[in-house]
Amino acid sequence: MTVLVTGATGMFGARVTALLAESGVDVLAMTRSRERAEEMTCGSVTGVVADLDDPSSLSAVMEQADRLFLVSPMHAELGRREVAAIESAQVHGIDQVVKLYGSVRHEGDQLDVQHQLSIEALRNSGLQWSLVSPQTVMETNLLGQIEGIRYERSMFGSAGDGRIGMVALDDCAQVAAHVLRADPSAWSERNLEITGPEALTYTEIAGELSKAFECPISYIDMSEDAFAAMLIEYGVPAEELELQVLCHFRQMRAGKASLVTDTFELVIGRPATSIFEWARAHRDAFGLSDD
Ligand SMILES: NC(=O)c1ccc[n+]([C@@H]2O[C@H](COP(=O)([O-])OP(=O)(O)OC[C@H]3O[C@@H](n4cnc5c(N)ncnc54)[C@H](OP(=O)(O)O)[C@@H]3O)[C@@H](O)[C@H]2O)c1
Repeated sequence: MTVLVTGATGMFGARVTALLAESGVDVLAMTRSRERAEEMTCGSVTGVVADLDDPSSLSAVMEQADRLFLVSPMHAELGRREVAAIESAQVHGIDQVVKLYGSVRHEGDQLDVQHQLSIEALRNSGLQWSLVSPQTVMETNLLGQIEGIRYERSMFGSAGDGRIGMVALDDCAQVAAHVLRADPSAWSERNLEITGPEALTYTEIAGELSKAFECPISYIDMSEDAFAAMLIEYGVPAEELELQVLCHFRQMRAGKASLVTDTFELVIGRPATSIFEWARAHRDAFGLSDD
């Protein structure tokens, strides 16, 4: 069996590629860069070059694959890009598509409109498909705060008191890899919402980091405008701000990221990773011991 992984150089795609390869599955790891394709080629992983913005480039990789893990960046063209991949999967008779979605209730915002285009195409495709839907991810939220935590012992955001069922990247990738190895009918047309074990506010998350790092970390809550201005000052490109950051904090503040499920435990057979466990395992990345 060969799985084509789109976005293979990205956060989810790279981890799913590694997990599939560890279990001996042949992976076609897709990137737009020939150099990165060569770097990724090792063992059962073959780097392949294609571009979701150039549907004609997809045929050559799709025809070598049996299954597809579909992930693309949070971008205004996410829908069009993923629909191109789904159409190519139909042409090439792909046995199963596992699409990365999300379980924060974005409910009609720009990002969700894009995801719904892709989901609608899957529903109408006649293909066997499943959704793997992470809550907002610890790596994105907490590794993104490294500088503030290391130098100011503070995290910044505009999440207010919203509760968040934040989930570890690895837990989501484990579920995606499991579904991609299973009989395609086993999880067909299911939306697997993967969350952490509990929903905490950002202030409570700072408390968990304080325990894990054995030093006080605080959370500074800001208005959305003040937070946006700070991010621009720190170099986040203005055109990325809404889809990459602000729409997520808005939903967290509104309590739309509070879902907690036992799906990870049901699929994988052990409890989901807590913030405290994740923070202990990633302590070195925060460089606190160097101070
Ligand atoms: N972060 C979270 O907390 C979270 C939670 C739930 C769901 N999600 C979902 O996760 C997805 C994003 O996943 P991610 O963070 O892993 O993505 P990512 O790291 O931002 O990007 C994945 C890769 O996509 C490739 N790419 C960019 N444009 C492309 C194109 N036109 N054609 C083909 N490939 C292209 C890039 O690889 P190359 O440059 O090598 O081509 C990039 O490394 C979104 O659907 C988002 O809604 C995120």
